[in-house]
Amino acid sequence: MQAKAVRSIFALFSFVLVCALPAQAETAAGKLPNVTILATGGTIAGSGATSTTTVGYTAATVGVQRLIAAVPELAKVANVTGEQVFQIASENMTNEHWLTLGKRVNALLAQPNVDGIVITHGTDTLEETAFFLELVVKSKKPVVLVGAMRPSTAMSADGPINLYNAVLIAGSQEAVGKGVLVSLNDQIQAARDVTKTNTSTLDSFKTPELGMLGYVQGNKAFFYRQGLRKHGYEGEFDISGLSSLPMVEIVYGYANMNAIGLNAFVAAGAKGIIHAGTGDGSLATPVKTALTEARKKGTMIVRSSRVGQGIVARNGEANDDELDFVVSDTLNPQKARILLMLALTKTNDSKTIQKIFYTY
Ligand code: SIN
Repeated sequence: MQAKAVRSIFALFSFVLVCALPAQAETAAGKLPNVTILATGGTIAGSGATSTTTVGYTAATVGVQRLIAAVPELAKVANVTGEQVFQIASENMTNEHWLTLGKRVNALLAQPNVDGIVITHGTDTLEETAFFLELVVKSKKPVVLVGAMRPSTAMSADGPINLYNAVLIAGSQEAVGKGVLVSLNDQIQAARDVTKTNTSTLDSFKTPELGMLGYVQGNKAFFYRQGLRKHGYEGEFDISGLSSLPMVEIVYGYANMNAIGLNAFVAAGAKGIIHAGTGDGSLATPVKTALTEARKKGTMIVRSSRVGQGIVARNGEANDDELDFVVSDTLNPQKARILLMLALTKTNDSKTIQKIFYTY
């Protein structure tokens, strides 16, 4: 009871403190930016049995209006409106969800009265949705994906501050033209390169080696770098007429590997296979044979790596020119799957697809 009272006083104190701060997000005309929050579920909207339940809780139970109401400080930095697009745990995110979300984002950003979008999302596939949007959003206006590692009912839940930061970024001029962004733990990351690195800690989202883009500190977004790869607003992917995406599956490489799973995917009609290879995308002999056969039948093959960092070298661990394979560059397997699906909506030519992988 006493702890509850202390927490309420602390919350009131933080609220008063934030009210006293200048609204950093004001536009040049002195108006607050208009930011739409699209809610999709996840832990940020999750609830647990007690305040110490930080695992074993239920994701996607709290609606967008309650998420917004829980952070009254948002009103200081943006005119916020909310839409419940889905209410799911993100392991259930599908290609169809992505198409729906991408079309909604493009429709909203085409409106002059929308300055930026925040998408609340489960962290498990957040990086995938972010990269899909990075490739298909046709606007320079900020789009920021945000999640939380602790459910909304947890002691020291990270959702409220993450949401506040995401709205601040989405309403900031600094974020315009930077592509789709991801923000948790006071950090700003690029959709292409960020990945979830820890099952449960608050600092799970990282861009190892290539580096994050910036921080949020003192009610302001600070950027220090930006990615050089092409963004969706400059690119060729148009989802406006699509209701599905080509079937592309991932096959994971490991010692003692066989081709049973891979052959099953091909037999089921996969248009593309991402091989999450060992090391620099190396292929076990039975797998190489099966991939070669699959390619001859028309399935597109992309060699990626399970390692998580580095470039998969073209003509390194396999003769890609001879086998007519594509390499994923630095994209991890789950992101390579997304780029291959979109590439296959444009072409079946492996050389063009390889160029696409070196472009985005
Ligand atoms: C999910 O991805 O929906 C559950 C896990 C999380 O949001 O952290």
